[in-house]
Amino acid sequence: MSNFNQESVLSVHHWTDTLFSFTTTRDPTFRFRNGEFTMIGLKINEKPLLRAYSVASANYEDRLEFFSIKVPDGPLTSHLQHLKEGDEVIVSRKATGTLVIDNLEDGRNLYLIGTGTGLAPFLSVIKDPETYDRFEKVVLLHGCRRVAELAYGEMITEKLPNDELIGELVRSQLIYYPTVTRDPFRNRGRITDLMESGKLFADINLASLDAAHDRVMICGSPALLKDTHELLTRRGFIEGNHGEPGQFVVEKAFAER
Ligand code: A2P
Repeated sequence: MSNFNQESVLSVHHWTDTLFSFTTTRDPTFRFRNGEFTMIGLKINEKPLLRAYSVASANYEDRLEFFSIKVPDGPLTSHLQHLKEGDEVIVSRKATGTLVIDNLEDGRNLYLIGTGTGLAPFLSVIKDPETYDRFEKVVLLHGCRRVAELAYGEMITEKLPNDELIGELVRSQLIYYPTVTRDPFRNRGRITDLMESGKLFADINLASLDAAHDRVMICGSPALLKDTHELLTRRGFIEGNHGEPGQFVVEKAFAER
């Protein structure tokens, strides 16, 4: 049996000239935990070309969703960005990754820190009823350079709160905090700076980070991971991993080079 499924593109949405999302059919045997990634790609000159992508849809949904950048001359994304409804995409049968709530110790508040397409794994985490069962407040932080890059904002603020399955949980427990660094906007600055200065916590009306009861998931560029890792370890947070839950977990956003 092949390690891959062929899925068919159901929709494509271009957010900006560098960011797009698409949905595909989902083989019913494909299982994943919310927050995980899988390998997806295209056959190019008869050869499969695959890259890691977080699954942005929840594991109970019957379609798969992916959120991607368009890298100029990127081996895969220069093709992927031209996807149309009905095109075929290759999707691995396996999913893996550290950004799953099972890798975190119990706690009070869960912070999800994503920059750019690093938002993707958290889109499935915030749709998971278990996330709201495990944590009192779920704070989704999305940091981008430009306002136009704050993809999914409307889905998070308009659609999810009215969702039949999780709307009520979202309304009472989810706090969405988008912030940009290079445009005027109501929230401005890097997520790390907003945490260090305390502005974030004042804005969302929660106490400053505390390893005793806060848990954190991080997905973004290597520089973001490094700085957030430092910020958290300075405050006594311990990193978690498969088989050894901790107080925070990290994953690189899978930008194509
Ligand atoms: P900035 O505009 O100050 O670089 P990128 O597209 O480079 O991945 O950046 C996405 C967002 O993450 C931007 O708002 C960027 O801010 C911010 N960012 C980049 N590096 C870091 C870092 N080391 N710590 C916190 N935020 C970062």
